[in-house]
Parts: sequence; structure tokens; C-alpha cells
Amino acid sequence: MDNLKQLAIKHKSDKHGSHFYTEVYERYMSPKKNKSIKFLEIGVGGYNNKNYSDIYLGGESLRMWRDYFKKGRIVGLDIVKKKIKLGNRVKIFQGSQSSPTTLFRIVKEYKQFDFIVDDGSHRSKDVIFSFKYLFNFLKDGGYYFIEDTQSSYIRELGGDGAYLGNKKTAINYFKSLVDKINYQEIENPFYKPDYFAKNITEIHFFHNIIVIKKEKNLEKSNILFNNRRLVGGTSHITLRKSIKNIKYLFLYLKSRINYLLDYVKI
Ligand SMILES: C[S@@+](CC[C@H](N)C(=O)[O-])C[C@H]1O[C@@H](n2cnc3c(N)ncnc32)[C@H](O)[C@@H]1O
Repeated sequence: MDNLKQLAIKHKSDKHGSHFYTEVYERYMSPKKNKSIKFLEIGVGGYNNKNYSDIYLGGESLRMWRDYFKKGRIVGLDIVKKKIKLGNRVKIFQGSQSSPTTLFRIVKEYKQFDFIVDDGSHRSKDVIFSFKYLFNFLKDGGYYFIEDTQSSYIRELGGDGAYLGNKKTAINYFKSLVDKINYQEIENPFYKPDYFAKNITEIHFFHNIIVIKKEKNLEKSNILFNNRRLVGGTSHITLRKSIKNIKYLFLYLKSRINYLLDYVKI
């Protein structure tokens, strides 16, 4: 018994049954199944029909990861102090996923992870914070997973089911990263790619789970050169180049004005 679905059933993890995440995980994780990987999961679990506060309950998914990655080091993080014995390859930290001090304690000890799973509070603010912090500590070639994205559509969980364009929801934050994957294709010489643009090559959206691959994003545009469309032909090259530069400058100023207007409440 060593596929993730069987292990989820054995250890009573809701990653199969209540959700269907194990098939998604297997797609991205199976090539590293027998490697000495480092794995971090936010959210240890242990629901007692009211909340997750029982210190002796939980660890279902940590057991599943431990048995799947037989040579892996598995790290859990939970806001509740969990006293669960899972063997010497598993360590659980206590603290919030949106506390820089907590996250620093983890990355100080483990440096970089092959896989990071966010199954914690599912609140957009926390999800975005943890991703922005931890993505730096994902290995090149590693994957970051965000579970239970339905919370982005549910008000009580900090989401918004009425206005799907709400920029504060986690789903919209991750949708915005799609443009970063294509940063070499953006016709705007003023566009400044950030760390995410330079290090994300894949984002997969599934029902309730997002998968992001960290990898050097080096593929050049087949149309643009340094985010510009070159002036074609041979006549009046200098004049046409100058006009194009003025056009780019005008478009840039227009985009800045639009950006400012977005923040002015009238
Ligand atoms: C859905 S459960 C995790 C289930 C577990 N990953 C599994 O599959 O068996 C969510 C967990 O996140 C924890 N949690 C909630 N808010 C958190 C936060 N801000 N930081 C870290 N953990 C948090 C809860 O205490 C709870 O144990």
C-alpha cells in the first residue's frame, strides 16, 4: 500500500474522500517519491467536532506524507500546539502561518523545501502572506500547493461570492500571477518583472486546489525584444522609433493614472 489515495484512506486524511486532492498531488510528487525530500505542510488538523484545539488530535496528512516519502523529512506547522508522536522524520512547529517569526524559525532550520502545502486557516490574508514569505524557500523545481480555495468565495471565511473580481481574495491573487509567467510577452518596456515573475513557470488551477511550480522562467518572447515590439521595414527608422517610444511613454503614464484612480474613492 503506497499510493497517496490508499495512504489517505489508511490514515483517515480528508485529502481523499471529502476532497480529491491525492490524485493531483501524485501527479507532481511521484517523481520524487523515493528521494530525500523536505516537505512542509501548514495545518496539522485534529477536528473534535467543534474546533482544532485538541493538542493530542491530528496529524492524519503528516502520517500520509511520512509513509509516502519514505526518505523524506516532513514538517508540520499549526497555530495549536500539537503533541503527537509521528517518528523521527516528522517535526511539528507551533505558530501562525502569518507570523514572520514562526516562518523564520522553520526556514532557518530547513533552509529549502521541495514541496509546501497550505492547508491552514484558508483565510485569504494568511494564504497570501505565507505564499509570499515561503516561496523564497521553495527549491528550484519545487511545488507549492494551496488547498480549499473555495474559501475565496465564502464571506465568513474572508472570501467574496458577490464580487468575483475582489482583489483581496486568494484566488484572485493567484490568478494575477498568470501575467507574471508571461512577463516576457508584455508589450511594455517599463514592466519590471519581480521574483515571482522570474521564478514561476506553471500554475495549475483545479477544483479547490492550486499548484504552482518554482523554476527559472527564462523563455524569451518570440515577438518582443526587451518587452518592445521592434520597428519593422527600412524607411524613416529613427523617426518611427521615436514615435514608438513616445507611444510607450504615453501608455505607461496612462497605466499609472489608471492605477492611481483605482485607489481614489469618489
Ligand atoms: C483543515 S486542518 C488541517 C488538516 C490536515 N492538514 C490534514 O489534512 O489532515 C487546518 C489546521 O490549520 C490550523 N490553523 C488554523 N489557522 C492557522 C494559522 N493561522 N496558522 C497555522 N495553522 C492554522 C488549524 O488549527 C487546523 O489544525
